[in-house]
Amino acid sequence: MVKFAVFVSGGGTNLQSLIDATQSGHIDAEIALVVSNRIKAYGLERARNAGIKAECIKDDALLIQRLKEENVDFIVLAGYLAIISDELIELYQNKIINIHPSLIPAFAGPGFYGLHVHEHAYKRGVKVSGATVHFVSPVVDGGPIILQKAVDISHCQSPLEIQETVLKIEHTLLPEAVKLFAEGRVQVENERVTII
Ligand code: GRF
Repeated sequence: MVKFAVFVSGGGTNLQSLIDATQSGHIDAEIALVVSNRIKAYGLERARNAGIKAECIKDDALLIQRLKEENVDFIVLAGYLAIISDELIELYQNKIINIHPSLIPAFAGPGFYGLHVHEHAYKRGVKVSGATVHFVSPVVDGGPIILQKAVDISHCQSPLEIQETVLKIEHTLLPEAVKLFAEGRVQVENERVTII
């Protein structure tokens, strides 16, 4: 059974969608470990409630050790706000998947995380935003794009409303990308992704 780890820092609603999708069999893989850099991250609670190992780990070396101990094949970042070490990126080359709450390259890169993304989108007055699932590379939000989905936000009256609208599509987009990856249907060549 393919095993993956999920890294969280906050409420973990994306993690919950992955827990539901693996436990229903939609994703043919197992969440072997949930990690957070924040001991109070509710995502850890969600994991424990689902009977999944959940650990607060701040040390890079320990993190790598635990991933090896749990035989983790790939990693999903779901609202993870700590820096991924170059060593970890090297060890899991094109095997670390991140979800970003905009249509990269818009509103992406250093400083564009969480609500800040939607504040910029609201200020700019864009009528469409969305979510992007991509591989993690040394360039923040710069890795090969796996899937994207756009959503109409012209009705949104605040950054919070944009966040809620985008989050809804994240909850289907991320499980879809993880399912494809776990089935070996995501190919990367010269920074471009093909779904086979
Ligand atoms: C999501 O909007 C995700 O796109 C971003 O951080 C947020 C995490 O939300 N990277 P949750 O913790 O999964 O609810």
